[in-house]
Amino acid sequence: MNEFDNPIVNQRFDPAQAITEQSQRRLFLKSSAAVVALFGSNLGFAQTAKSVWGAAKPFTFESVPLSMATDGIVVPKGYRWAVLAAWGDPINGKFPVISYDVINTPEQQAKQFGMHHDGCAFFPDQGSSSKGLWVVNHEYTDDGLLHPDGMKNWSLEKVRKSQAAHGVTVAHIQKDEKGSWQVVSGPYTRRITGYTPCAISGPAAGSKYLQTASDPKGRLALGTINNCANGVTPWGTYLTCEENINGYFVKKGKVSKEEQRIGINAKGFGYRWEEFDDRFNVDLNPNEPNRFGWVVEIDPRNPDQAPIKRTALGRFKHEGAEVTLAKDGRVVVYMGDDQRGEYVYRYVSKNKYQPNQPELNRTLLDEGTLSVAQFSDNGEGRWIPLVFGQNGLTPENGFADQAYILVETRLAADQVKATPLDRPEWVAVHPTSKDVYVALTNNNQRGKEFPINAASPRENNQMGHIIRWRPRQQDAANDRFDWEIFVLAGDPDNTDPNLKGNIRGDVFGSPDGLWFDQRGILWTQTDISSGALGKGAYARITNNMMFAADPVTREFRRFLIGPNGSEVTGVDLTPDYKTMFVNIQHPGESPSERSNPDKPKAVSDWPDRKLFSRPRSATIVIWREDGKPVGA
Ligand code: FEO
Ligand code: CA
Ligand code: CA
Ligand code: CA
Repeated sequence: MNEFDNPIVNQRFDPAQAITEQSQRRLFLKSSAAVVALFGSNLGFAQTAKSVWGAAKPFTFESVPLSMATDGIVVPKGYRWAVLAAWGDPINGKFPVISYDVINTPEQQAKQFGMHHDGCAFFPDQGSSSKGLWVVNHEYTDDGLLHPDGMKNWSLEKVRKSQAAHGVTVAHIQKDEKGSWQVVSGPYTRRITGYTPCAISGPAAGSKYLQTASDPKGRLALGTINNCANGVTPWGTYLTCEENINGYFVKKGKVSKEEQRIGINAKGFGYRWEEFDDRFNVDLNPNEPNRFGWVVEIDPRNPDQAPIKRTALGRFKHEGAEVTLAKDGRVVVYMGDDQRGEYVYRYVSKNKYQPNQPELNRTLLDEGTLSVAQFSDNGEGRWIPLVFGQNGLTPENGFADQAYILVETRLAADQVKATPLDRPEWVAVHPTSKDVYVALTNNNQRGKEFPINAASPRENNQMGHIIRWRPRQQDAANDRFDWEIFVLAGDPDNTDPNLKGNIRGDVFGSPDGLWFDQRGILWTQTDISSGALGKGAYARITNNMMFAADPVTREFRRFLIGPNGSEVTGVDLTPDYKTMFVNIQHPGESPSERSNPDKPKAVSDWPDRKLFSRPRSATIVIWREDGKPVGA
């Protein structure tokens, strides 16, 4: 029996909660021809949504024209921007300062902002909109830019510098009397790097899968790496998510099915850490990769507390961790696994969030249920628990215990027949309606390795799409939901229906960053790969961008264009909405993704132009000249 034929899945939901548009969608999707029609024209949008999906405050800015793309930042008329903190800037605002030609040592790098800013969050000081902590992920390094001579003369020193440029920064930031934001010194400033001791907690902590020769207890890992998107908890902690961790490890011997499933192989991604740090040599340290690929909780106001890897949330290529509360106060975390054909997950805590007893919230991410999503073709969906002994997760099928299920989450999700998606990136929850949106960036194997279905309707999905769903009873802990495609990205000018999409508003593709502000605006950031920008389906799109989207009208309006070769990823706002923070990652990236140190500015010299030898990832601040809130 197909999982979708399960009568429980197909039961009618409470008419009082019925979503008119969803019902129409289900009828609409009944015929496969309708799936084609869905992306062949704009008619796929039902017109009844206005009172249904969580709404946004109307935008007030003028769209930034595509023609303004340049090797710089373009923001709407009446807006201004400035760099807040770039790779190599001192995290205390003072020293050590990075030199023009990047001869900073590993020790200095560990006191400076890392490379390749990604997920981020502003933690206001007591609700302030002019002072707080800036926490930002440093996803990975381009070692062609990191060292003066790139990867030539490879050494332990270079490995250490690369590791020091990974991880997370916690910095104090403040708006001065002239209105300019600065990094300042303060008690919570710290760097977490690729070798910072991190506690391991939750059901898999201490298990045999996590034990190594240097940590026989399996409870203390060194470092967090490939920190992609993020989450923020109601109790004031930051979640950083370890994504493509496989690329740092190398195994020359035969790989196991578990290693293969997370992508461990004989080559890695070419970071070359294993040449000087045995931890990354899997032949010597077979369990070390199991200590990465987690969601890591950091308390930004407790610098003495080690980051904590929360194994209850599963191990995979974590993109982000979007936190919300169920109706009864339990904590719900939505997470994407960004690879072609991977899944969307949900964690629901056993205990409830206690706003007045902060000490009780420290273990909310240790005890709970991890589930994986199944999207049926009729517009309904359900969460399938990944719990030992249930749904075929038994020793007969190779699942020895719960720790194994959490370490090898992808294998467990395969077993329960989760729905393979087109590279799930960020998940965003609407602030009031609790509707959930996930960016599916692209999948060139759709229609080949992964069959077409309603949730992934386009063959060779180059442009990507966004799916949204509403949990039944609008309760995030409910195991049932109703979903639809929010938008099929594309170029309205393209005559190929597969590439055209059904956008209302401005052309875009490869959605990645997705974040709702408290006014209901869905900020959408793109990550078209450097090899695809300006070519083929992306002929008109030479740079990555950021959009404001309206959940009701489905309008996408272009808010920002990034510099050449960059990705726009990570966004937050001050509580008064008057300052927006946006990360610009890998400006100047060449299609090979590793720069030539002899020509580091071949693609971009942003943001320093002549003042620095190479482009730098950076956080920028954006504000309005008239001092009003950003966006709306
Ligand atoms: Fe680090 Fe999937 O983006
Ligand atoms: Ca991403
Ligand atoms: Ca991406
Ligand atoms: Ca990236």
